Amino acid sequence: MRLAGRVALVTGAGRGIGRAVALAFAREGATVVLAARTAAELDAVAREIEGAGGRALVLPADVRQEAAVAALVRRVLDAYGRIDLLVAAAGTAAFGPLVETHPPAWDEMMAVNLRAPFLCCRAALPAMMQQRSGTIIVIGSVVTSRTLSGSSAYTASKYGLLGLARVLAEEMRPHGVRVGVLSAGAVDTALWDAVPSPPDRTRMLRPDQVAEAALLMAAQAPNAALEEITLLPAGGVL
Ligand SMILES: NC(=O)c1ccc[n+]([C@@H]2O[C@H](COP(=O)([O-])OP(=O)(O)OC[C@H]3O[C@@H](n4cnc5c(N)ncnc54)[C@H](OP(=O)(O)O)[C@@H]3O)[C@@H](O)[C@H]2O)c1
Repeated sequence: MRLAGRVALVTGAGRGIGRAVALAFAREGATVVLAARTAAELDAVAREIEGAGGRALVLPADVRQEAAVAALVRRVLDAYGRIDLLVAAAGTAAFGPLVETHPPAWDEMMAVNLRAPFLCCRAALPAMMQQRSGTIIVIGSVVTSRTLSGSSAYTASKYGLLGLARVLAEEMRPHGVRVGVLSAGAVDTALWDAVPSPPDRTRMLRPDQVAEAALLMAAQAPNAALEEITLLPAGGVL
């Protein structure tokens, strides 16, 4: 039980990587707060966690909204009095040449993939700083280390996220709060459902493999910080 007694807030916990992280953290003894917009998916994950003997709390929220994120963190603190782990896994992806990328689609990518993690970190940090402990993990992407044509908005959002996390890691070092980026290559999740002609999904990573890496970051001894991981499908898909 590597996370016994910890309280974890996982955004994007309804499916894909966030769901896998929530299940893995709960299996390791954490109480997991599940956040995303679709309550039915969160309820299903909570049932899975509780069915295996774990603890979960469902708090539906749209992480693009500042007030919703503030209320989410307030409710976690009201319920448990602390927040040890924040995994910002809510995200979106869409691909296409920049010349065909419409400004509203660009804005949506930035709102979900970059501004929302900023809002979540900003809301959770005061409690973590007061505790003088806490671990934040944001889900980055291989696009910051391998250039992928047709991914300008997605890539810009993930470079922004990487920059945010690196600066925040420095700012939080004196406060005992760890900030890490888990950058993954292609993972077989519903995110690919809307992508025309996606890469071979059978050669992608599985969400539980990404969750295993998140667990490695979360469960480091207090005197160590695993700040950046790049996890790629060994077959080389993205
Ligand atoms: N799949 C990959 O190949 C891959 C690779 C590297 C990195 N990533 C990153 O991993 C993260 C998760 O991706 P995934 O593949 O797990 O996607 P996914 O299966 O589509 O899941 C995305 C999750 O984010 C939630 N979400 C989206 N917009 C939200 C909003 N405004 N407010 C609250 N929750 C929201 C979704 O729930 P609702 O729609 O119900 O809100 C869902 O639970 C993303 O940041 C993605 O960029 C994915």
